[in-house]
Amino acid sequence: MSATTTYPNYSPGLEGVIGGITTISEIVSETSTLIYRGYNVHDLASHGSFEETAYLLIHGHLPNQAELDNFKHILAEERQVPGSVYDSIRGLPKSVHPMDIAKVGFATYAPYDPDYAAPATDMEANKRKAVRILAKASTIVGNGHRIRMGLEPLTPKHDHTIAQNFLYLMTGNEPDAQTTHVLDSSLTLYAEHGFNASTFACRVTVATLSDLYSGIVSGIGTLKGPLHGGANEEAMHMLIQIGDPGNADAWIRDALVNKKKIMGFGHREYKKRDPRAIYMTKIAKELCEKHGQTKWAQIADILENVMETEKGIYPNVDFPAAYAYYVLGIPIDLYTPIFVVARVSGWSAHALEQLSNNRLIRPSCIYEGPSHVPFVPIAER
Ligand code: CMC
Repeated sequence: MSATTTYPNYSPGLEGVIGGITTISEIVSETSTLIYRGYNVHDLASHGSFEETAYLLIHGHLPNQAELDNFKHILAEERQVPGSVYDSIRGLPKSVHPMDIAKVGFATYAPYDPDYAAPATDMEANKRKAVRILAKASTIVGNGHRIRMGLEPLTPKHDHTIAQNFLYLMTGNEPDAQTTHVLDSSLTLYAEHGFNASTFACRVTVATLSDLYSGIVSGIGTLKGPLHGGANEEAMHMLIQIGDPGNADAWIRDALVNKKKIMGFGHREYKKRDPRAIYMTKIAKELCEKHGQTKWAQIADILENVMETEKGIYPNVDFPAAYAYYVLGIPIDLYTPIFVVARVSGWSAHALEQLSNNRLIRPSCIYEGPSHVPFVPIAER
C-alpha cells in the first residue's frame, strides 16, 4: 500500500499543500501565466527593467520616475561590499562552485549591514536590508567570479544597472546593449515564483525570527540543487553532451527509456507551458541566429518535441536560459548564481510578507520507526 493511501493527509513533497497566502505572485497553470503583484511577467520583461520589477516586488507597487531614480541611486550607493567579503572568498578553494561563493559572500557581509542588529520584525529596517542585498548580489557574484579566476575585484560603476554591473565585473569590459537587455529580461523572469523551494526555505528561516540574511543564505543553498535553480547549468551540460542536432533524437529517446530526468523540463506547478520558458525561448532562438550558433536551438527543438509527444512534459525557464547564456559567453557555473542575483528580490519580498503576519512554519510528520525499545547499556551492546 502506498504512503498516500495509508496516510490520506500526507502529500509527498507537499504537492498541492497550501503553505500560505501571498499577494506577491500568482501562477495560473491553465493559461500558462505568471503574474507579479497583478502584472503579467511578459509585460514586465518586455516594457520594464529588472530594477522596476525588483522595486515592485519589494515595495508593492511599480515606481514612478522619481521613485525609480531614487531606488537606482540607492542601489548604486550600496553596490560595494567590504574587503573582508573578498577576503572570505579568497580563502575558499579555487574549485568552489560560485553558488557557494554567493553563500559565503552574503554570510560574511551580513554583520556589516548597518541594520543587522535591528529586531527581525522591524519592517523599515528589513526593507533597507532587502535593497542592500539586491544591490550587493551582482557584486558578490561578479567579483566572486573574478577572485576565483585569480583576478582582482573591480569597483562597481555608479551608472550601471544590475545587469550591467554583473556583466562588467564578469568580463572587465563595458557590456553591449543586446547582452545587457537579454540578461535584464532574464532577471525579471527569474525574480519571483510563488512558494518554490528556495522561497519556502527563506520563509521558514525568517519565520523563526532569525534575520533576513539567514533567509537569503537558506534560499541560496536551496536554489543550488539541480531539481531547482541548478537545472539551468545541468541543461547546458546536457546540450553540450548531445553536441549535434543529428544526435538529439536518439539521445533523448535513450534517456527516457533509461528513466533519466531531463534537466530543464517539467514543473510542479505548470502542467502546460512555463510562461517564462515561452518568453526566454524566443530570446534564445534569436541569439542563436545572431551569433551563428543555431545548433543549440535545433537540438532544443528536437528535445522539446520528443518530451511533449512521449511524456507530455514541457521545458521550464531553465532550458532556454541555459543556451541563451551559453551563446552570450557566460561561464556555465554562473547560470545559477545569475538566478540568485534575480531571486534575492523575490526572497526578500516573501520574507517581508512572512514577517508582516508571522507564524512559525512547522509541519508535522508521521513516525514509522520502532517503539518501546528497551535501553541497553553501552557495555552490553
Ligand atoms: N524528465 C523526465 N521525466 C520527468 C521530468 C523530467 N525533467 N520531470 C518530471 N518527469 C516525470 C517523472 O519521471 C514522473 O514520472 P512517473 O510518474 O512516471 O514516475 C512524473 O513526471 C512526475 O515527476 P516528479 O519528479 O514526481 O514531479 P515533481 O513535481 O516532484 O518535480 C521537477 C518537478 C521540476 C523537480 C521535475 O520536473 C524535474 O526534476 N525536472 C528536472 C529538473 C528541472 O528542470 N528543474 C527546474 C524546475 S523550474 C525552474 C527552477 O525552479 O529552477
